Amino acid sequence: MSNPDRLLSFSEWMAENNRTYYARKAPGKEGDFITSPLVHRAFGEAVARQIMEMDEQLGHPDPFLLIEFGGGSGQLALDILKCLAEESPRLFGRLSYGISDFPESIKHFQERFENELPGALNNVTFLPPFSPELARKIPNLPGCILANEFLDALPIHLIVKRDTEYREIFIGEQGEKFEIIELPPSPAVLHFIETNHLDLQDGCFAEINLEMQSWIRTVSSSLQRGFVLVLDYGGPGKELRSDRYPQGTLRGFKNHRLTDVFTLQLGEGDWTSDIDFSILARLAKKEGFSVTGYSTQGNFLLGLGVAERMPIFRKKDLNLDELKEHLAMKFLFHPEGMGNAFNVLGLHKGMDQPRLSGFSLRQEKL
Ligand SMILES: C[S@@+](CC[C@H](N)C(=O)[O-])C[C@H]1O[C@@H](n2cnc3c(N)ncnc32)[C@H](O)[C@@H]1O
Repeated sequence: MSNPDRLLSFSEWMAENNRTYYARKAPGKEGDFITSPLVHRAFGEAVARQIMEMDEQLGHPDPFLLIEFGGGSGQLALDILKCLAEESPRLFGRLSYGISDFPESIKHFQERFENELPGALNNVTFLPPFSPELARKIPNLPGCILANEFLDALPIHLIVKRDTEYREIFIGEQGEKFEIIELPPSPAVLHFIETNHLDLQDGCFAEINLEMQSWIRTVSSSLQRGFVLVLDYGGPGKELRSDRYPQGTLRGFKNHRLTDVFTLQLGEGDWTSDIDFSILARLAKKEGFSVTGYSTQGNFLLGLGVAERMPIFRKKDLNLDELKEHLAMKFLFHPEGMGNAFNVLGLHKGMDQPRLSGFSLRQEKL
């Protein structure tokens, strides 16, 4: 293709995919992938209990700001709110809950809330998708910012190392056809590579999540003091940029199957890439945050007492429904289920060394 109609960075191309895809599909059995809140409500309840502890350490602010980015099916928000309404009605009463997602998901949330928890609608604000301007819509208050499987969905730039030079992947489009074009990196990508000291081996690919950088900046300006909880797949930079991932970690999901994104039509599947938690922690520190803890999802949930709430702790002989519940809860924290596939990073600012139960069991190296 010598003269493409359009030349887009990979990030612009992925943003087009996301706008079309997320307008059509939410996570779930009917969708292309499943997320922790959809496995069992125990996930949302554990997060709710973690938020109760944050509230206590923040001295019960009124209002308590809780912003969830990428609300998906709305399941996590509903489970958190139901648990708080039952176990901490005072916090529930002080809560100002904002959910950010694309307009089609927001419409779906509103319907779910009206049907399932109309009493919470006074506490909930539906927010547009993330952009740096969103900070203006969020009051600067104490509380918690929550992102479960949100950052991995943000559009990324793609780079590859050729000889000693970095190249950025662009997409040339001509009609229905597209071509992958390698060009010198844009200045922002090059700056990110240099400031984060990325050092890829020759021929290896990696994702550059510039939006994550802009997100943590926005979050910092919206949160007066309090916590950020990021639950996602990914790991420390050293692990991600090793020979385990020479092609990088970008992947697609369609019909619950792993797919190469370049084989999918735009808007046909979910595109995702791992979070470099070392870079996220470093960027967060620049924005005034400290790391509260970093652990696997399994240890985070076990630290919050999920295992003790399994039906087997109440009775020995489980009926079929209880057995299903037992297995779903175990899947959330077991290393061969979601326990080791996801990690949790806790951040705080404006507080002196807070301790959270989610990070009490065991922490990982960043
Ligand atoms: C992988 S899903 C996770 C959904 C949900 N957090 C869960 O755990 O079930 C990613 C979600 O992020 C949303 N999303 C993607 N880009 C977004 C953006 N820029 N702002 C807000 N939400 C976004 C998608 O619409 C989708 O609901």
